[in-house]
Amino acid sequence: MARDSFNSKFGAIMALAGSAVGLGNIWRFPHETGSNGGGAFLLVYLFCIFCIGIPTMLAEFIIGRRGQRNPFGSFRTLAPKTRWYWYGGLSILAATLILSYYGTVSGWTLEYFMYAVGDSFHNQSSAEINNLFEKFVSHPYKPILWHIGFMVICSLIIIMGVKNGIERYTKMMMPVLLLIIIALGVRACTLDGAQAGIKYLFYPDFSKLTWKSVLAALGQSFFSLSIGMGALMTYASYINCDDSLLQISTRVVVADTVVSILAGLAILPAVFAFDVDPASGPNLVYITLPQVFDQMPLGYIWGIAFFILLTFASVTSAISLLEVCVAFLTEEKKMSRLKATILSSAVITILGVFCTLSFGPMRNVTLFGKTFFDLFDSISSNFILPFGGILICLFVGWKMKVRDVYFELSSRGKYELKSFRVLMLIIKYVAPTAIFIVLMSSLGIF
Ligand code: PHE
Repeated sequence: MARDSFNSKFGAIMALAGSAVGLGNIWRFPHETGSNGGGAFLLVYLFCIFCIGIPTMLAEFIIGRRGQRNPFGSFRTLAPKTRWYWYGGLSILAATLILSYYGTVSGWTLEYFMYAVGDSFHNQSSAEINNLFEKFVSHPYKPILWHIGFMVICSLIIIMGVKNGIERYTKMMMPVLLLIIIALGVRACTLDGAQAGIKYLFYPDFSKLTWKSVLAALGQSFFSLSIGMGALMTYASYINCDDSLLQISTRVVVADTVVSILAGLAILPAVFAFDVDPASGPNLVYITLPQVFDQMPLGYIWGIAFFILLTFASVTSAISLLEVCVAFLTEEKKMSRLKATILSSAVITILGVFCTLSFGPMRNVTLFGKTFFDLFDSISSNFILPFGGILICLFVGWKMKVRDVYFELSSRGKYELKSFRVLMLIIKYVAPTAIFIVLMSSLGIF
């Protein structure tokens, strides 16, 4: 049976952009920018995205499309009789860990969507809104039910396959998501007092830039672009061999960056207009925004729109994580797609329950001083993603034949590649070295 693949270039771009655009852009980017000094952080972040992010993403695409399989199978095809295929194990581990805690936050989003529809934030004091969040996340089973609900939605899409599931639904959700985020960005920027937030986001104050914020910017760029753990590699194996990888990657990166900036524009000015601390952390979206919406004209509608946006963004990213496990099980273990999806979702959801309970009954259960939620987050984003990124660059830069890399990148000579030498230089030397520095720093070695 022929391997399932994307139907069109547009579909491939939507699916890949769907993977990239997620909680990382809307939930993580504004508070990372808020806690790391605003404009100066943004500049470093943009540098990381364009100079390291794009080349590493292309390297991942090259392996995936050339290998025509899941990460495990692709490495085994491209480097037979070597241990490179172990990367496949790393990618499954990363997908499982990330999706376990991603599902927790996505589950909260579903509950908050219901709150927004029920107008629950109306006329609530900030203490009450805070309380609402605390009470919900620490509830013994409610967040688990939402978490399970979220995983069921993702599983249903994945069961339908690449074309009929992933491509079809991301093609529907991504344009709506873009429209909502543009509307929210414009709305927030036109609020009284929003200038302070716009200035904070764009005005680079280099005195605020620390070494730590440079590292945070590189880490954020990896997480946001979904680089390093095989999700892009798996999707790339479904891209038609005629489509230009360079074109697709630039579009995905531009879409991802635009959404992050729009999310920053939607959230930071509003946060300033209503005098909320931009560095209030991961809870910014759930605790401060409901207050912001409540005080905005037509806030009811904006609140609903925002949580729809967040839900779509989470679903389109989560399915790319789930697909990594499903592609492995169907191709390497010859399982049916249905069985593979049920098995992967079940394991991930069970692990995820520990993350969800990290905010409630298991708040005090820690491993290496961290709750399950924090542990899964830090192992995957601080360790596995950068490590995976280095492996990918080294493989394409040093192990693959330059001729093969060129062949794949130019789609069998169909496209001219003017910047091939520079790109190879980055993939071979610059990107792995830069990522290595981040990795060592996050391990506390530098
Ligand atoms: N890029 C996604 C986001 O921004 C998260 C993600 C990371 C998805 C790694 C897949 C792989 O939310």
